[in-house]
Amino acid sequence: MEMTSPPNVPESNDSREHALKQIVNMEVIEKQGRLADGVQYTFWTFGGDVPGKFIRVREGDLIEFHLKNHPDNKFAHNIDMHAVTGPGGGATSSFTAPGHETVFSFRAIRTGLFVYHCATAPVGMHIANGMYGLILVEPREGLSKVDREYYVMQGDFYTNGRYGEGGLQAFSMDKALKEEPEYVVFNGSVGSLTGDNALQAKVGEKIRLFIGNGGPNLVSSFHVIGEIFDNVYQEAGTEVNHNVQTTLIPSGGAAIAEFKVEVPGTFILVDHSIFRAFNKGALAQLKVEGEEDPNIYSGKQSENVYLGEGGHIQEIPESGEPAEKATTLEEKLKKGSIVFQSVCQACHQSEGQGLPGAFPPLAKSDYFKNDISKIIGPVVHGLTGEIIVNGQKFNSIMPKQTLTDEEIANVTTFVLNNFGNGGGEITSEMVRKNR
Ligand code: CU
Repeated sequence: MEMTSPPNVPESNDSREHALKQIVNMEVIEKQGRLADGVQYTFWTFGGDVPGKFIRVREGDLIEFHLKNHPDNKFAHNIDMHAVTGPGGGATSSFTAPGHETVFSFRAIRTGLFVYHCATAPVGMHIANGMYGLILVEPREGLSKVDREYYVMQGDFYTNGRYGEGGLQAFSMDKALKEEPEYVVFNGSVGSLTGDNALQAKVGEKIRLFIGNGGPNLVSSFHVIGEIFDNVYQEAGTEVNHNVQTTLIPSGGAAIAEFKVEVPGTFILVDHSIFRAFNKGALAQLKVEGEEDPNIYSGKQSENVYLGEGGHIQEIPESGEPAEKATTLEEKLKKGSIVFQSVCQACHQSEGQGLPGAFPPLAKSDYFKNDISKIIGPVVHGLTGEIIVNGQKFNSIMPKQTLTDEEIANVTTFVLNNFGNGGGEITSEMVRKNR
């Protein structure tokens, strides 16, 4: 029987009128692979990928399941399929040592989308290493027609090193027990479904997502930014809900979400427990091509300056009391420190270390190392788009700051003389020239 690697889904069985005996050959492969850029991990897989091969059968089929444990593997494994009615979901009949093959059969008596996973002790570790996938038991009458089907499965990963720390990372039982993953990803790695690997669709098409959650620990708040699900088979059972924004997918559970794409653009799949999406990897893309429909979505129609009530307070004072000027470098640093704490620290962090992937570091920064005046521009004008600081790429938006020339001189001088930077002084005249 044909099985597919994620994000692909096998052809439907709905043209078939009778149940069949189906033979599934599933090979367990332990292999090193990419968890994130520069980060390797030893995955344990059903069929070579995380998640494992997608299995699609029809209600009433008899499945003869062959579990093969590759002779190069180091560990014994088995399989617990939630589609199985029987002890251990098959686990009690499928314990397989490296270089062995076990066989058991089951009847697919219930329809739905089911998780399968390894259940060999320590179970949590086998699942944490990527041993899960989905099996769809299609109803006799089939599912409704759609244009595209995709297979997306979430999982949480526990590495000894922190998020982004390079090299081959070992599994951390300590973090797994605390349920504090470094990575939460779709389809086995950060960026598995972004950029060139993004899911594709065309305007007007109906999409069906088979979404699973392998865990081992976290519950997913699955959401597609900019879409509303027309139909959700809740918990992948037979109950269908409509017009859903975010659907819960328990660890060891699944959901089927269907929606029509009405307008072009990039739609972002996330776990809406949102730090997981933007800081731990649980983010994928669906790229939709086709005609704009301004009747549904206009795009940006205009942008104007908005001066809110009290906005004038933030403007540079043109008359009245001039701010007291720092006369010594020491005073300047002191005043700069106060500005830093109230304005800069929220993003660039208390030690100027920044936040990987979001806010560039001001500490030991090579951005203004050779030309200290380069520190002025982003504060005066803001900075949008891609920059590289200390070898790390950043692509975010820094708004221009409503500070006086004096305040900018003070805070930039403070930064230059702290956080391991090389020193130097910015004067208010230098700031003025940059306006
Ligand atoms: Cu296993």
